[in-house]
Amino acid sequence: MIVVRSCDGGVLKVDGFRVRIFERLSLPPVRYRLKAIKEAGWNTFLLKADDVFIDLLTDSGVNAMSDRQLAAMMSAQDAYAGSRTYYEFLNAVEGVLGFKYVLPVHQGRAAEHVISKAFVKDGSVVPMNYHFTTTKAHIELAGGKVIEVPVKEALDRRSRYPFKGNVDIERLEEVLKAYRDRVAFVRIEAVANLLGGQPVSMKNVAEVRELCDRFRVPLIIDGSMIDWNVYFIKEREAGYGSKSLEDILREFVSYADVFYMSARKAPAVRGGFIATNNKGYYDRMVVHIPVYEGFLTYGGMSIREIAALSVGLREMVDENLVGSELELIKYIVEKLDNRGIPVVLPPGGLGVHVDAAEFLNHLPRNAYPAGALAAALYIASGVRAMERGTLSMDRDKDGREVYPDLELVRLAFPRRTYLKSHADYVVDRLTWLYRHRDLIGGLKWVHEPPILRFFLGRLEDIGNWGEELLMAYLRELGEY
Ligand SMILES: Cc1ncc(COP(=O)(O)O)c(C=O)c1O
Repeated sequence: MIVVRSCDGGVLKVDGFRVRIFERLSLPPVRYRLKAIKEAGWNTFLLKADDVFIDLLTDSGVNAMSDRQLAAMMSAQDAYAGSRTYYEFLNAVEGVLGFKYVLPVHQGRAAEHVISKAFVKDGSVVPMNYHFTTTKAHIELAGGKVIEVPVKEALDRRSRYPFKGNVDIERLEEVLKAYRDRVAFVRIEAVANLLGGQPVSMKNVAEVRELCDRFRVPLIIDGSMIDWNVYFIKEREAGYGSKSLEDILREFVSYADVFYMSARKAPAVRGGFIATNNKGYYDRMVVHIPVYEGFLTYGGMSIREIAALSVGLREMVDENLVGSELELIKYIVEKLDNRGIPVVLPPGGLGVHVDAAEFLNHLPRNAYPAGALAAALYIASGVRAMERGTLSMDRDKDGREVYPDLELVRLAFPRRTYLKSHADYVVDRLTWLYRHRDLIGGLKWVHEPPILRFFLGRLEDIGNWGEELLMAYLRELGEY
C-alpha cells in the first residue's frame, strides 16, 4: 500500500497498482446453487469453479500476477537440466531471503514431504506454534507427532492480542526438556493458517531461536504467507514501523535453519521451495528431489513458473503491493464484529475467519458446524469459503473424531484479486445467514476418505435443511 497523510489528519492507504486484465464473474441463481452444492456432496472443494460467484476458497495459486511476472514467463529458458532461469531463481532467493542452498519443489506439501523424509523418524516429535493440515499429515506419515505450543490468546477468538501466531516460550521449553533427543525440529508457521491467519512477532521468533540453540535442534520456518507476517510486524511491533518490508523479512528468516514455502501463496505462482545455509541439511534433503519432484533445476515446477517466482519473491516485499487484501479483510472483520457476528479478532492475514461453533451453537461438533456453514454460505451467496474445523482434522487411529481448538469457516482473500463491492456483498450475505442461523442444520457422511478427508469427502444435510434455507431466501431476497 502507498501510505500518505490524509487531509483530515489521519492516514490514507492507497493500493499501489491498477488492474489491467479482468475475469468476468457470474452469479448463479439460488435454486441452482442448492443443486450444485448437493452435487458437490456439501463440500465446497467439489464445486465447479464455474458455479462459484466469488471464490474465497483459498489464496493458493489464484493470486493476481503482475505484468512483470508474465513478461518473465515469456523469456524463461526451457531446459530439463541447467536452465538459466533456475540460476536466476537461486540469485533471487539469495538476494531476497539470504539463503545459498535452494531446493525447488512442486508445491508446499512437497517441501513438507522432503523435510519430513530428511528429519522425522519413528517416535520423533515436532513442536510448533500450530499445525497445518498437510504438514501434520507428512510428519505423521514419517512416524512423527506434532506438539502444538501456541500462546493461550491464540485460542480465544475475541482476544485482540496482536501476535496470536506466537509460540508459548515456556511451554516450548517444557516440551524440549521432556522430549530431548526425540525432537526432529521446531517449526514456526508465519502467519499461522489454522489460527485464523495470525502473525508471529520478531521478538518471539528470536526467543524460539535461542531455545533451539540451547537444545541443539533446528528451527524450520514455513513462510508460505511470510509477506503478510512481515506487513503485520511493520504495523504492530514496536521498533519496526519505519523499517522496510525487505529488511524485516531478512531479519525474520535469518532465524531459520531451514526455510520453506508454498510459492502458490506469497509470490503468486504455482510451486514451492526449501532453502538453507546449512550444507549438511541441504545434503540430507537433496537426495529426495530427483525421486519425488524432478531434476534439481526444476523440482516439478514449470520453468515458466520458476521465472515468475523470481519476480514474485521481489514483489512480495514491494511496499506498494503488499497489504491490499489485508485492508479488505480488516474492513469486513470490523463490520461483522460490529454486527455481533462471531469472527476471529484481530483481523489477520489470509482471510476472514468466522467462528462456526458460536455462529451455529445449536449444532454439536460431530454435525460439522463449519462444514454446514460453508455450504449454507454458498447457497445464500454463491461465495465459496473453506471449512477449517472438525472436517479438516482426520479421525484418530481408533476412529474417534478429533476436535480442533477452533471450528472456523475461512473466506480467503487472494492477493490483489477482489474489490470493495465484493467485500460489501460478503458482509450482507453473512448478515442474512446469521439472522437465519436457526435454519442451518448439520451434515453427515456419505463417503469419508481415511486421510485429508476434507478434500474429497462427500456429505449430505441432516433433515434436508438446505430446502428450507432456499425457501427463506426466495421469499426474502428472490432468485439471486
Ligand atoms: C502454511 C501453509 N503451509 C503449507 C501449505 C501447503 O502448500 P501447498 O498447498 O502448496 O501444498 C499451505 C497451503 O495452504 C499453507 O497455508
